[in-house]
Amino acid sequence: MTVRSHLLRLVTAVAVVSPAMSFSALPKPFFGSRALASTACAASASSIGQQTGSKMQSRSSVVSMPLMALGKRSTAKEVIDAFSPNLKGKTAVVTGGNSGIGTETVKALASAGCRVILCSRNVQAGEEAAEVQIKASQGREIKDGYSVPDADIKVLPLDLADLASVEQLAKELESEESIDYLVLNAGVMIGPKGYTKDGFERQIGTNHFGHFYLTDLLLPRMKQQETPSR
Ligand SMILES: NC(=O)c1ccc[n+]([C@@H]2O[C@H](COP(=O)([O-])OP(=O)(O)OC[C@H]3O[C@@H](n4cnc5c(N)ncnc54)[C@H](OP(=O)(O)O)[C@@H]3O)[C@@H](O)[C@H]2O)c1
Repeated sequence: MTVRSHLLRLVTAVAVVSPAMSFSALPKPFFGSRALASTACAASASSIGQQTGSKMQSRSSVVSMPLMALGKRSTAKEVIDAFSPNLKGKTAVVTGGNSGIGTETVKALASAGCRVILCSRNVQAGEEAAEVQIKASQGREIKDGYSVPDADIKVLPLDLADLASVEQLAKELESEESIDYLVLNAGVMIGPKGYTKDGFERQIGTNHFGHFYLTDLLLPRMKQQETPSR
C-alpha cells in the first residue's frame, strides 16, 4: 500500500471521527483530568483502561479506590499501578520517549515489567533518558522518588516528520514478538511555521499524519496477535 493511500484513509478517518466522540469513549474516571486531553499519560491510561474495561466493572470493588484517587495530578506510575501493575511479557512502543511525559510513561511501563521500545528522533537523547532518568545508572538523584534499574528498554530512531523514518521503524519492529501497547505521545505545539520532509505543515504532519501512518503500518500485525493490542 502506498503512502498516498495510507493518507487517503487518514483523511477519511478524520472526517468521520470527531474529537467529542473519541473523548466520550474514554473511561469516566478520566474525565476532568488535565492529563486526559492529549498526554501520554492519558494515552496509556485510556488504552489500559479500555483493555481492562470489562474487568474494571466486574471487579469494581477491587479497583475503585485507585480509580477514585486518580485525577489531574496523577502520575503515569499511579495510572499503571491502578490498572495494570503487572505487565510482564508485554511490549509497549512509546513515541517521543526521550523527554517529558514520554519518559515518565516509559518509566512507569518499565516499572510494571513491560518491555518498552523508546522511540526518539535523537537516539542519543533516548539512551540518555533511559540510563539517567529511568535506570538512574549514573547515581543521579531521581526527582519523583523511584527508578527502574532493570528496565527493559530498547531505543529506536523515529522522526515523525519523515515518513521514510516511520516506515523504517515499522520494519524494525517486525522482529518484536508482539506489540501490546502503542503510546502516540510525541508532538510539537505551536512552533514556528515549517514543513515535514514530505511537505505537510509541521504540526499536523508530525502529530497526526506521522502517527497515523505508523499505526496503519503496525495495525495488521497487532490485529493478528493472539492477545489484543491497544
Ligand atoms: N505538557 C503539557 O502540558 C501538554 C499539553 C498539551 C499537549 N501536550 C502534548 O503531550 C505530548 C508530550 O508533551 P511533553 O510536555 O512531554 O512535551 P516534550 O517534552 O516537548 O516532548 C515532546 C516529544 O515529542 C518529540 N518529537 C517532537 N517532534 C518529533 C518528531 N518529528 N519525531 C519524533 N519525535 C518528535 C520530542 O523529541 P525532541 O526531544 O527530539 O524534540 C519529545 O520527545 C506532546 O505531544 C505535547 O504536544 C502536552
